[in-house]
Amino acid sequence: MRILIIIAAAIIAAPLTGFGGVYLLSEAKFRDVTYDPAFDAPIPTDEASIEHGRHVARTRGCFGCHGQQLQGKDFGEQWDWPERAVAPNLALYAREHDDATLEAAIRQGVGANGKALTSMVSYNFARMSDEDVAALIAFLRSAPVVEIDLPKPKLGWGVRWSFITGEEKHMAEWADAVPPLRVHAETEPQRAHGEYLAMTMCNECHGLDLRGATLWDAVTPDLIVVSAYSREEFEKLITTGVAMGGRELGLMRLVAPDRFPELSEEEIDALYLYLTSLVEETPAEGVFWRP
Ligand code: HEC
Ligand code: HEC
Repeated sequence: MRILIIIAAAIIAAPLTGFGGVYLLSEAKFRDVTYDPAFDAPIPTDEASIEHGRHVARTRGCFGCHGQQLQGKDFGEQWDWPERAVAPNLALYAREHDDATLEAAIRQGVGANGKALTSMVSYNFARMSDEDVAALIAFLRSAPVVEIDLPKPKLGWGVRWSFITGEEKHMAEWADAVPPLRVHAETEPQRAHGEYLAMTMCNECHGLDLRGATLWDAVTPDLIVVSAYSREEFEKLITTGVAMGGRELGLMRLVAPDRFPELSEEEIDALYLYLTSLVEETPAEGVFWRP
């Protein structure tokens, strides 16, 4: 598939505009982003908030992608689609950039260079609360810096072309498409908390609305499936990646043990309550993440 795109890009783009044209058009696309007002929530300095920030980082997968010491990671071989994705050293990045820059990368999908990101899963954090973002920033700045050599990231021509045509959407577009939270915290605090957790933990893979997705290399189920699980089976699934009846899952088996074992009983109760209530809602049709 990628090969076809690369060939198509070469055939169509070369005579018309040349590779220079593809470069310029794709760069223009990455720069065509709008910002939310600059993030100005106070960054906490107390131990409890920094520990909460660590919990947010752990349960949202920052360590899995940016390295267990936040030292950064070369995805060159794991994901060949952008040519070479490189997750930066987060402990270092957090010290070198201001709060608004960090927030734009984390929640809005826009990098420090003012361009839309292509691989960072900012849409998963688009609904993260100001308080959690602030705690996360405090934690990242407090984490020890471990430096390693990282290669430069690279975007291939075929990928640039697919962004120009709109076949591939960048992370600022993904972040903009995340539905708003719907459950009212005043009337249903526990279910609202569960929605918040799911919409900042599970929608990286299960669709922006949690109702399933067709991803690059996986099809993920509608989380309505949780209604078939008992509370106990659900806890086992999200903390180990082993499904009902002892079935070993694929990607879920890698992600769950890295991120979710430290969820509290309270957080698991809230998630379970919210996800088992999805059965009462009709999923949206014809959305780009679930064609
Ligand atoms: C699925 C993997 C993945 C996860 C999960 C992830 N990141 Fe990233 N992140 C990346 C990649 C890859 C990049 C490099 C930019 C790109 O390719 O989009 C990146 C870039 C960044 C950047 C720098 C953006 C810039 O200016 O270039 C920040 C800041 C960042 N991530 C913070 C976080 C935080 C905080 C978390 C956890 C809440 C997190 N990331 C979770 C993959 C991930
Ligand atoms: C990094 C991607 C990713 C994240 C994050 C993720 N999942 Fe999954 N999940 C998958 C994939 C992929 C599958 C399909 C089976 C497989 O390949 O592992 C799956 C399968 C499942 C299943 C189906 C199990 C069955 O009975 O077949 C449930 C339920 C589930 N996930 C719940 C969750 C919940 C709840 C969260 C958030 C707390 C979550 N997942 C976060 C990727 C993810």
